[in-house]
Amino acid sequence: MRTPDKIYAAPQPQVVDFTFDASVAAVFPDMLRRSVPGYETIISLLGVLAERYAQADSTIYDLGCSLGAAMLSMQSRLSDASIRFVGVDQSAAMLRQCRNNLEAVNDGKNHAARFSLLHGDVREVEITNASMVIVNFTLQFIDPADRLALLSRIHAGLKSGGVAVLSEKVCAEDAAESDLQQALHEQFKIANGYSELEIAQKRTALENIMRLDSAATHIKRLRRAHFSSVAQWFQAFNFCSFVAIK
Ligand SMILES: C[S@@+](CC[C@H](N)C(=O)[O-])C[C@H]1O[C@@H](n2cnc3c(N)ncnc32)[C@H](O)[C@@H]1O
Repeated sequence: MRTPDKIYAAPQPQVVDFTFDASVAAVFPDMLRRSVPGYETIISLLGVLAERYAQADSTIYDLGCSLGAAMLSMQSRLSDASIRFVGVDQSAAMLRQCRNNLEAVNDGKNHAARFSLLHGDVREVEITNASMVIVNFTLQFIDPADRLALLSRIHAGLKSGGVAVLSEKVCAEDAAESDLQQALHEQFKIANGYSELEIAQKRTALENIMRLDSAATHIKRLRRAHFSSVAQWFQAFNFCSFVAIK
């Protein structure tokens, strides 16, 4: 059973910036399921995308892998053992739990042969011989000034025909749409059992660390990073996912 997310349930005298620490890692599956519309669908469909785009003798990178949900979904659809996975995250707590999750479905030996977990900044990791690079709700936590450079490095590290999958919470282009999207997202969270207090405190905690772009900005930036084909393939409220093919 998932540990329930109660992080913002009690009033906090001063809400501090959100961090991906051990307390978040412990409740993260529940937090994602109840906060991100479509999260489980995206994770499941990443497996389907992997069936189409993963290439033999290549590497799949998961940048900001957290607990490894995307890698596990893709692995479940790929029997070719020549395809390796590299998960990168700057949260040691997330990576510890990620390692446990990967080991739970792979015996120790297979796990070490097929998966590498790197503790560090995704902006510094070397990307080579990649057929897929997953950036699932991670770019939004990276300084906007660094986003194009990261996407360009992803493009450079992809093999021909390889794909980047970028999922993000997006902002609206105008105030009316923004109000509607925020209202729908809050409705989703309330329907999933979060209180008004939890929603408000979490919003404050994320204010300084999560900077959103519009879907149009993401698409334009992916094109500027020289991807030849860019498409939005998923949307649930203001949560979108894009594929960008080299
Ligand atoms: C919302 S979570 C991603 C969820 C995950 N991709 C999934 O599909 O379940 C964002 C993750 O990105 C990591 N992260 C944020 N900025 C990072 C950076 N610059 N380098 C490495 N990891 C980063 C955080 O530690 C966190 O685990």
